Amino acid sequence: MNRLNPPPRLLMGPGPINCYPRVLSAMSTQLIGQYDPVMTSYMNEVMGLYRQVFKTENQSTLLIDGTSRAGIEAVLVSCIEPGDKVLVPIFGRFGHLLKEISERAGADVHTIEVEWGQVFQPEQIEDAIKRVRPKVLALVQGDTSTTMLQPLEHIGEICRRYDVLFYSDATASIGGNPFETDKWQLDAVSVGLQKCLGGPSGSAPITLSDRYVDVVRGRHHVEAGIKAEHHQDAQGSRIRSNYFDIPMILDYWGEERLNHHTEATSMLYCARECAINLLEEGIDNSIARHKVNGDAMLQGAKGLNLEIFGDVSHKMTNVVGVYIPEAVNGDKIREQMLLDFNIEIGTSFGPLHGKIWRLGTMGYNARKDAVLHTLQSLETVLRRAGHKLSLGEAVDNAMTVYEENQNA
Ligand SMILES: Cc1ncc(COP(=O)(O)O)c(C=O)c1O
Repeated sequence: MNRLNPPPRLLMGPGPINCYPRVLSAMSTQLIGQYDPVMTSYMNEVMGLYRQVFKTENQSTLLIDGTSRAGIEAVLVSCIEPGDKVLVPIFGRFGHLLKEISERAGADVHTIEVEWGQVFQPEQIEDAIKRVRPKVLALVQGDTSTTMLQPLEHIGEICRRYDVLFYSDATASIGGNPFETDKWQLDAVSVGLQKCLGGPSGSAPITLSDRYVDVVRGRHHVEAGIKAEHHQDAQGSRIRSNYFDIPMILDYWGEERLNHHTEATSMLYCARECAINLLEEGIDNSIARHKVNGDAMLQGAKGLNLEIFGDVSHKMTNVVGVYIPEAVNGDKIREQMLLDFNIEIGTSFGPLHGKIWRLGTMGYNARKDAVLHTLQSLETVLRRAGHKLSLGEAVDNAMTVYEENQNA
């Protein structure tokens, strides 16, 4: 077999994106044992770092091993007992994912929907909460399938008034868009590394409020083989997944260090580096960088004579959707971008599949040169496919955004 030698792609789709080089090198650091005091000190460090990333005081801030949906599944399966009501407002593919995972956990799921490309008003969510009276509200912040960012700041207060646990999936938005766990009164949040945090997929940082932890501790059952006399089974039903059993995972990350899985050490190194990288830049600076590069891509796309998808006032900073012009073959354009220019852009899912392209500017790739290369290449590919555009306008538009922001 040949050694791995992937082409040097520039990943400008909705994620994953190219890793920060320092994250890549952290991943190849030598392993240590899972109870080595150095390893447990790294685990504690990671908890502290992600408290800063999530902007929370929550003690229960840790990693779930697996891709982002492992974090989603752990949060939901641990708190949902069969028959519990869960409300899921759906504004894209990932709302459907929260519904699907809640259903598999046995929930009685209620949904409200808006057209893809829109977000919810807080009153719509409050009305549904009043009607359904759910135990849990599960709401995506940034749904990459539509590029929309759901405002969350008023939702936590509503949830507290109706005694609802408030969970959000911020996988695609954290680090590139504002996120305030404690200020917005969230009870559970899960994310991934492969978007604005600039890492690979494979680790899902989560944070949990004391309110959420009290609920899941009510279902605490330690597995046989490691159970000691002082471990009393809780009254609530046993959590349906062993791997995603948050009370047992908390025993492992907490003082008792009770064995659960074998922590994915290389991914922990990676998650640690992603957090340090973000905090060294500063969360506000990172958000501002995503905004400038996202704006440059958006204005550049307009310069390519492409129509922007969705309600731009609620767009995530880090990805923009554009309608695929009817006169061109969308898949062919993406293929030429990939094979001739080594640049990956994405289409979308479900009703938007083949209708829009998604151009991402996130993490390591939220950079001027990456944006300009993408726009320049897309101009060439579109022009050769017969799409009418004004030569040079895309890069000029993007340059104007950079110049304006330099002077700001
Ligand atoms: C908002 C959101 N949630 C969840 C996921 C699923 O992540 P993963 O593929 O890492 O499990 C994604 C991936 O694109 C996402 O954008």
